[in-house]
Amino acid sequence: MSALPGSAEGTAVTGLDSSPVEPAPIDLPPLTEQTRLEAREIIARYPVARSALLPMLHLVQSYQGYVSPEGVALCAEELGLTKAEVGAVATFYTMYKRRPTGRHLVSVCTNTLCNVLGGKRIFDALAADLGVHHDETAADGSITLEHAECLAACDYAPVVTVDYEFYDQQDVESARALVAALRRGEKPAPTRGAPLTDFRGISRQLAGFSQYGDAAAARAAVDTPGSLEPTLRGLRLAEQRGESAPPMPRSEQSAADSSGAPAAEAAGVESAQRGAPEPAGRSLADQNDGTETPAGQAPGTTGQGPGKA
Ligand code: FES
Repeated sequence: MSALPGSAEGTAVTGLDSSPVEPAPIDLPPLTEQTRLEAREIIARYPVARSALLPMLHLVQSYQGYVSPEGVALCAEELGLTKAEVGAVATFYTMYKRRPTGRHLVSVCTNTLCNVLGGKRIFDALAADLGVHHDETAADGSITLEHAECLAACDYAPVVTVDYEFYDQQDVESARALVAALRRGEKPAPTRGAPLTDFRGISRQLAGFSQYGDAAAARAAVDTPGSLEPTLRGLRLAEQRGESAPPMPRSEQSAADSSGAPAAEAAGVESAQRGAPEPAGRSLADQNDGTETPAGQAPGTTGQGPGKA
């Protein structure tokens, strides 16, 4: 829930005095006027101010390493929301941290494919090395370790990310070596994508502020070579075997509809129809919301929904 320390709104909603967003540690650097100016710069990017909330929360994390009560208050003030509303968002998404994060965030995928290939063994080994459990930070402040759900890189399983950059096809020893290097202050190159920064640095990027001095430096950073081989392997096998996916039913229908009509002409008809005024006499009551069977049509005769055996 969204109750925050000292938040009357949160307590009113939940009846709880405790909160999943922890009070600020004593040595937390305060948010400054610069933070507020950058928050306003983010807000100006959106036609509706509250759309800026997600990048603003990343901005708060870039300064304080987590979404602090002070950061929640700043977002609420600038957006005209209650702290409970901001807290509801901040506590919903796992990318927003409720406790101060270490210099690096190490996420180990323990979802199905990574797990059967050793994800849990990797997580357990790192947890033992760091002396932490899920979502805890090593005593030296270097690493916060977390389990992650599927990181959308199953073809590179088992996957570990550091500050959301990918380190593919890990095993226990390579992951332990990676974390040991991070703790020494090194920044091993990710398998693909942009160079590693740190949790606050990536939070700043996610807030929409570049880490790089100019556009050329930014382009050079993300244009690093990467391996696509595991992703392309299935495609190559299919090519060798002459296999292809069956056409989608809609594409067959579209081909039949446009047969005999040049593509440009068909597109012209479609766009003309899109721009045409609604037929006179049409009202909201005429519009089927899709939950009713059209009059005179038996269920199951449209190819949708249950039919008679
Ligand atoms: S299961 Fe790990 S990336 Fe999908």
